[in-house]
Amino acid sequence: MMREIERRAAEAYQNRFGREPAVVASAPGRINLIGEHTDYNGGFVLPCAIDRRIAIALGPGEGGLYSVDYAEARPCDGKDDSWADYPRGVAWSLSDAGFSVPPFQAAIAGDVPQAAGLSSSAAIEAATALALDALGQFAIPRKRLALLCQRAENAFVGVNCGIMDQYASLLCQDGAALLIDCRSLEAETVPLNLDAAGLSLLVCDTRVKRGLGATGYNERRATCEQAARILGVAQLRDATIVDAARLAGLELKRARHVVSEDDRVLAAVTALRAADFTTFGHLMYESHNSLRDDYEVSVPELDTFVDAAREAGALGARLTGAGFGGCAIALIARPAATSLIELARRRFAKREFGEPGFYTFRPAAGAEVAG
Ligand code: GLA
Repeated sequence: MMREIERRAAEAYQNRFGREPAVVASAPGRINLIGEHTDYNGGFVLPCAIDRRIAIALGPGEGGLYSVDYAEARPCDGKDDSWADYPRGVAWSLSDAGFSVPPFQAAIAGDVPQAAGLSSSAAIEAATALALDALGQFAIPRKRLALLCQRAENAFVGVNCGIMDQYASLLCQDGAALLIDCRSLEAETVPLNLDAAGLSLLVCDTRVKRGLGATGYNERRATCEQAARILGVAQLRDATIVDAARLAGLELKRARHVVSEDDRVLAAVTALRAADFTTFGHLMYESHNSLRDDYEVSVPELDTFVDAAREAGALGARLTGAGFGGCAIALIARPAATSLIELARRRFAKREFGEPGFYTFRPAAGAEVAG
């Protein structure tokens, strides 16, 4: 059974290239429940895939890359700081690792909100990687594919991202979150049964656009590396809160966030396993405060939503993803979600912010080859 979005990509391929694609694959965006800016410090994260995906229809040929959403075509080679750099980067990454990627053409369609912190870039990478893997019959294991996608983003696109998004997109299971140890690269499924608890995860897209390259993301990462050097540890994963207190200035603030966030992720997993959503929610609020005050990646729109969530009685709320704009999430009793949306809208209007977008999602399956 093809998903609607996969059908759209397949039809676009057929229309553009005049034949059936050899393979259709799709991969989801993600939200991160907790564990922000910990992945590149060797720490823990707890993302979950969402039911918004990017689909790619692909086959051998020289017809280039076509985006249904942008209604534009781009060549398979080169680099031009557009959406096409992601599939190109993945093809490069696979080739560079010794897989003989044949010349291919592709049509891409998606419904993951872009530049919103929901990992549309990891979704396009994961879908491309899985499709090329199927086309070339390489049988690359999922974790290796995720690393190859990350390499595409680091070395080709030029964003020094961690492993979380690619792992989430390729390894998440339906109805569950994924605990990732970003050092050992072990991943463990954690059931996320929101329905049984009468809860929903409301996503607020502040529509404050961000591109990771243009933000302080790489700079935050460099400060963390510097903090680890000063402490004499390989990565901040190896530091305790007492160690972090020996630092000063920016290094102190950044390290305090990272070290305390790792602890919060593990506490959050324990809470989830016990279906203790109250504790889980508290940890979300604490995470947000730490991201706002110590890591300094929040923006007034994200803070406004989190404050509104608290006022509306949400169990927890926080920014999700890198920050600097994008999305926040709230864990809230299902009947109260509507009043939170109304309250947040009023608060945004009062502060003359742009109109935010809202949606709820279901924890969804990771990347799949369709059909
Ligand atoms: C972005 C990166 C991830 C991670 C988050 C922050 O989403 O792609 O690797 O670092 O920011 O937690």
